[in-house]
Amino acid sequence: MERMRAAVLIEPRRFEIREVPVPAIGPRDALVRVSRTGICGTDIHIWNGHYAADRLPLVPGHEFCGTVAAVGDAVRHLAPGTRCVADINIGCGTCFWCRRNEILNCPEMAQVGIGRDGAFAEYVALPARLVISLPDTLPDAVAALTEPVACVVRAADKAGIRPGQSVVVLGAGPIGNLHVQMLRLAGAAPILVADLSEDRCRMALEAGADAAISDPAALAAEVGRLTGGRGADVVIESVGSERLYAQAFDLIRKGGHVAFFGLTGPEASVPVGILRTILEETSLKGSVAGMGEDMHTALTLLAHGRFRTEAFTRAEFPLEAITQAFETLASRPEDLKTQIRIGRDPAVA
Ligand SMILES: NC(=O)c1ccc[n+]([C@@H]2O[C@H](COP(=O)([O-])OP(=O)(O)OC[C@H]3O[C@@H](n4cnc5c(N)ncnc54)[C@H](O)[C@@H]3O)[C@@H](O)[C@H]2O)c1
Ligand SMILES: [Zn+2]
Ligand SMILES: [Zn+2]
Repeated sequence: MERMRAAVLIEPRRFEIREVPVPAIGPRDALVRVSRTGICGTDIHIWNGHYAADRLPLVPGHEFCGTVAAVGDAVRHLAPGTRCVADINIGCGTCFWCRRNEILNCPEMAQVGIGRDGAFAEYVALPARLVISLPDTLPDAVAALTEPVACVVRAADKAGIRPGQSVVVLGAGPIGNLHVQMLRLAGAAPILVADLSEDRCRMALEAGADAAISDPAALAAEVGRLTGGRGADVVIESVGSERLYAQAFDLIRKGGHVAFFGLTGPEASVPVGILRTILEETSLKGSVAGMGEDMHTALTLLAHGRFRTEAFTRAEFPLEAITQAFETLASRPEDLKTQIRIGRDPAVA
C-alpha cells in the first residue's frame, strides 16, 4: 500500500506528521494530490478542541488546491493531471436538500477536512463529481481561496444583496474582508465595516469599504450618518458574538435584514422582537459554507481577478511546520490567510 505524509491532529493542539496510507478510492471517487491548503477559522477551532473534538485523530484541511492523481473506474469526466479545487460538502446528491443546493441539510452530509480526513496531507480522496477543474492562468495560492470566497458568495446571495443597498459588516477578519469585496461586486453602497482592530479596519478600507469603525461606541452614529438616519438595509454579523447579533438588530433600518454568519456555540441565541418583525417587516436568515454553484461562482470571480488576494497568499509554511503556522497565526493580523505548502515546490522539482 502506498504511503503519504499527513498532519494528523492527535489531540487538541497536537499535530503529528505521520506516514499514513494514501486514501483508497471507490469507483466514483477521485484522488487529489494536494499542492497547498489554507488554514481557516474552522481549522483553528478544530485545533483548539472547540469543534469536531469527537472526530480526532483527524487530518483537517478543506481549503485546498491540487492535481487529480487518480480516478475510480466509473469516472468518465475527469482525467489524472487536471489541476483542481473541490467542493468539500458531500451530500447524497439526490435528496430534497441536495437538489436545492442545501447540502448541509442532507441527512448523509459529510465535509472533507472536518468530518473526515482532509487536505493537510499529500493526498485527499473525495467523490469525483465534487472536483472542479482550474483555468491554467490561476495560480495555486489563489485557487486555494475558492472555498472561503464561496462562503461570501453564498452569504451575499442568501442576504439578497442588490445594487445601492447599504450594508454593515461586523468583523473585518479574513472572511469579513472577503464580504466587503463581494459586496462591492454586488453593488452594495455604502459599505461600513466595524472591527476592534485598527489594522483590520485599514485593510477593510483597502478592500473597498466606504467607512471602517474601530470604536464600538461610535458605530451606531456612523451607521445613521451614512444611511440618512434610517439604519442599514443589511447587517452581516461576521464575528460570532451574541452581543453583536443583538446589536445588529439595532443597526438595521425598518424593514431591514440581519444576515446570520459568524459562528457561535450551539446554545447562543438572540432575542427577536416579534411585533417589530411583523410591523416593520424585518427579516433574518442564516448562510452556511459555500457549495455547489457557489464554488463555481467563486472560482469564476477569482479567475477573472475580481478579488484582491495579496494579503491572503503571502504567508506559507511547509507541512512539517504546520504547528508553527497555527501557533503564530494570531501574531500576524496583516496576513489574512496562511497556507500550508504540501506539493513539491515547482522550482525545486
Ligand atoms: N457561515 C459561514 O458559512 C461561515 C464561513 C466561514 C466563517 N464563518 C464564521 O465567520 C466569522 C468570521 O470569520 P473570520 O475567519 O473572519 O474570523 P476571525 O475570528 O479571524 O475574525 C474576526 C474579526 O472580528 C473582529 N472582532 C472581534 N470582536 C469584535 C467586536 N466585538 N466588534 C467588531 N469586531 C470584532 C476581530 O478583530 C477579527 O478581525 C467566524 O465566526 C467564522 O467562524 C462562517
Ligand atoms: Zn474554511
Ligand atoms: Zn442529499
